[in-house]
Amino acid sequence: MRSGVLLAAAVLGLAITAARAAQDKQNFTIIERGRYLALLGDCAACHTEPGSGQAFAGGRPIETPFGTVLAPNITPDRDTGIGAWTDDEFVDALQKGVGRGGVHLYPAMPYTYYTRATREDVLAIRAYLATVAPVRHAVVSNQLPFPFDIRASMLAWNRLFFSPGRLAPTPAKSAEWNRGAYLVEGLAHCGMCHTPKNFLGGDETSQHLKGNVVQGWYAPDITDDARRGLGGWSVDDIVAYLRSGHNRIAAASGPMAEEVTRSSAQMDESDLRAIAVYLKDQPGGEEHAAPLAVDDARMRTGSAIYADECSACHTPNGGGIAGLFPALNGAPAVQSADPTSLIRVVLQGAQSAATPAAPTGPAMPQFAWLLDNAKVASVITYIRNAWGNAAPPVSIERVAAERHRLSRRAD
Ligand code: HEC
Ligand code: HEC
Ligand code: HEC
Repeated sequence: MRSGVLLAAAVLGLAITAARAAQDKQNFTIIERGRYLALLGDCAACHTEPGSGQAFAGGRPIETPFGTVLAPNITPDRDTGIGAWTDDEFVDALQKGVGRGGVHLYPAMPYTYYTRATREDVLAIRAYLATVAPVRHAVVSNQLPFPFDIRASMLAWNRLFFSPGRLAPTPAKSAEWNRGAYLVEGLAHCGMCHTPKNFLGGDETSQHLKGNVVQGWYAPDITDDARRGLGGWSVDDIVAYLRSGHNRIAAASGPMAEEVTRSSAQMDESDLRAIAVYLKDQPGGEEHAAPLAVDDARMRTGSAIYADECSACHTPNGGGIAGLFPALNGAPAVQSADPTSLIRVVLQGAQSAATPAAPTGPAMPQFAWLLDNAKVASVITYIRNAWGNAAPPVSIERVAAERHRLSRRAD
């Protein structure tokens, strides 16, 4: 009798242990998936102060057209982080842009994109965030000047520029394409940098992914546009760039170097391919500039400067050296509608992304000390119109303005 009870208790104990192990395994799978999804969403980019060593504890200033917003603490600390939030509150922050207590978030938090992520994916991110070290760090996000400091104004903004909700699958396209759409339009929020904004910071939806100035850089057209976009890139070229920050045509610097090292370099191969397949199916524009005449004075001066200062690395025909010095001929970034990044790279130089797949990011030297505004304008106008390239010339005034702006930037 007694031994029977003991046996039953032992069997029950084993059953509970097995159930707990299965539960642990399931939790582990969800947390691991959440870790990967947080990487796709690059949550750490904004929510971690660089150099602080305190992942997700907030405090990093995020530039908006209206002023600065500090990213808050999203560690599980109950008082200064999101430890006390319910699941629904967390889902609302990502899918609706509404924080705890009905607070309207600013779109400096990419909820306009994250809204496309499923509840299941959002809750997996939440499960992962619950496992990171809680940090006590109070952050006052709202540093905006009047009237933008009034959060209720976001109600009107959302009505104009925010279309909440999940994406309906496009049955005519492949599963890979649909996965790409889910990532590009959702968690990976590529359009936050690459889609032009209107004067209130909303996406110009008619100009989807067609290029935008961000943090003093130009994030180029990443549609399939033949000249300014990825028309000349294969799916493999796009995958290589996102995986390593380099390919036979371009090298990632500035905000894209950060995006690559922290996010896309760690994405699964299948997700990178899905993104590439989706981007290759985004229509480009039709209007393209005609090249400047070779005997244009700017072309002649620019050609001489190029031969002296640039051709050693980028080669005389602009072909570059794959993986080391980016190609300038046929490169969409060189023919961008907006020359912000080109002027910046020539004045300031650039350090390209270092990734496990391409560990030494080669550097471009700075020329601000050597070339005056007229010379910079000529050499950039030249590379935009040599070797079959064609793009509007860059004026001396534009270079002067950019030189002035750069002198006032901390980065
Ligand atoms: C581009 C920068 C950026 C990225 C990327 C980003 N956030 Fe944010 N997030 C912010 C900013 C800025 C705020 C504060 C907005 C405000 O105060 O209106 C914020 C607010 C939040 C809040 C509300 C917290 C609070 O205390 O009110 C949560 C939750 C959150 N983010 C989670 C995430 C998650 C999860 C990810 C990744 C999937 C993520 N964020 C990615 C910038 C970002
Ligand atoms: C934080 C802003 C930001 C985000 C987010 C971002 N990009 Fe970029 N991207 C840039 C900038 C800036 C450049 C230009 C970099 C340079 O000049 O070296 C760039 C360059 C690129 C290029 C190279 C284009 C060329 O012609 O050389 C590709 C391809 C690209 N991004 C794809 C993506 C994809 C896909 C995503 C989403 C998964 C993404 N980007 C997200 C800012 C961003
Ligand atoms: C010592 C070698 C070297 C010299 C000299 C050099 N570059 Fe570069 N350049 C690089 C490297 C390396 C990069 C990649 C850095 C990056 O953009 O991340 C680069 C990038 C660029 C880019 C950006 C391309 C892209 O894909 O975003 C432009 C434009 C450019 N160089 C133009 C010039 C011009 C114009 C000159 C002469 C005034 C010049 N370079 C001289 C090495 C060089």
